[in-house]
Amino acid sequence: MLAGKHILLIIGGGIAAYKSLDLIRRLKERGVRVTPVLTQAGEAFVTPLSVSALAGVPVHQKLLDLTAEAEMGHIELSRAADLIVVAPATADLMAKMAGGLAGDLASTLLLATDKRVLLAPAMNVRMWTHAATQRNLSVLKGDGILFVGPNDGDMACGEFGPGRMAEPLEIVAAIDAALADGPLRGKHVLVTSGPTHEPIDPVRYIANRSSGAQGTAIAAALAALGAEVTFVTGPADVPPPPGVRVVRVETAQEMLEAVQAGLPADAAVFAAAVADWKVAQAQGHKIKKGSGGVPALALTENPDILATVAQMKTGRPGLVVGFAAETDDVLAHATAKRARKGCDWIVANDVSPATGIMGGAENAVTLITAEGAEDWPRMSKAEVAARLADRIAAALG
Ligand code: CTP
Repeated sequence: MLAGKHILLIIGGGIAAYKSLDLIRRLKERGVRVTPVLTQAGEAFVTPLSVSALAGVPVHQKLLDLTAEAEMGHIELSRAADLIVVAPATADLMAKMAGGLAGDLASTLLLATDKRVLLAPAMNVRMWTHAATQRNLSVLKGDGILFVGPNDGDMACGEFGPGRMAEPLEIVAAIDAALADGPLRGKHVLVTSGPTHEPIDPVRYIANRSSGAQGTAIAAALAALGAEVTFVTGPADVPPPPGVRVVRVETAQEMLEAVQAGLPADAAVFAAAVADWKVAQAQGHKIKKGSGGVPALALTENPDILATVAQMKTGRPGLVVGFAAETDDVLAHATAKRARKGCDWIVANDVSPATGIMGGAENAVTLITAEGAEDWPRMSKAEVAARLADRIAAALG
């Protein structure tokens, strides 16, 4: 339901800006309140008069417009809406966002906001496929920015390919999806994912075979149910999902600190394959072969992140979910692990090489709760994630 929602619409400079006028009209038809912002480049394509006439409110244009600041400061403006939509999002605006620049009103609002942001990119096909834009795109996706389009097609500049702004009704649908009220709306869930890397020296490290696929799918499934997700990830093979707050770490110690900084949370899911040990004395310089013989790597234990959080006396998340990666006696080991670590649920899986689960697309898990063990059939990691997210939503209900 879009009626009654409030959208801050930033119109960037591009020929597609004319479609934003139609977008305003479509949103107004659905009872949406639209606060428009027009960039300097945007003004070359559509007039402030037509934008404000369609929106029914004045258009914001300058960062330090004294009248506007007196009525509503730019920080407040960035927080007042339910969602920020940038249409068209130019290559320049994307680069500013990826770099954290705040030299004008639009980029300042985008940097200062605490709301979700949806971009509808529009630009020449070569600009879109340029390595710099693609790099910015992946940075922005990692930051949890949402995207709709661009579409393939004939472009105003005479070329053909990706770069055409999504149509107004597609943008409306993306806005609807971004604002959908899922059962986890208003809940904060923390998810750890991926392996950790424990340094031996500046060029070598101890790692494991986790791809991060299951943790990433869980974060995506939770976000799809409306949760606000903090995603603490080690160096994974798969990119983080859109729509989550990403915190990247390398070591178990950094992961623990990021998790503690990310609390409080209503629930926490520990899907990361954390290295149990680290090198006691990681060297600050590359260890050389030579007279010293083969180096003896003395190991020391890493903090147990799951156990630390599950056993917190104050501020413990209401639901703490751990994973148990086992190669034998899965049920017995995982049940003991649940008790030892003090978590509420354990998602146990058999990671022996024959199962192909570690690094693969499927998973076969047993959910162990206070009520007992429940075997789930083998299914895709995305399906395991969706089912787990549903269970978490029911438990937090
Ligand atoms: N875990 C953690 N911090 C660690 C080790 C594990 O948070 N230092 C979490 C994992 O994210 C997972 C759970 O604990 O949710 C169990 O991980 P697993 O590797 O199966 O168990 P371990 O504690 O390492 O025990 P073992 O290696 O003896 O099976």
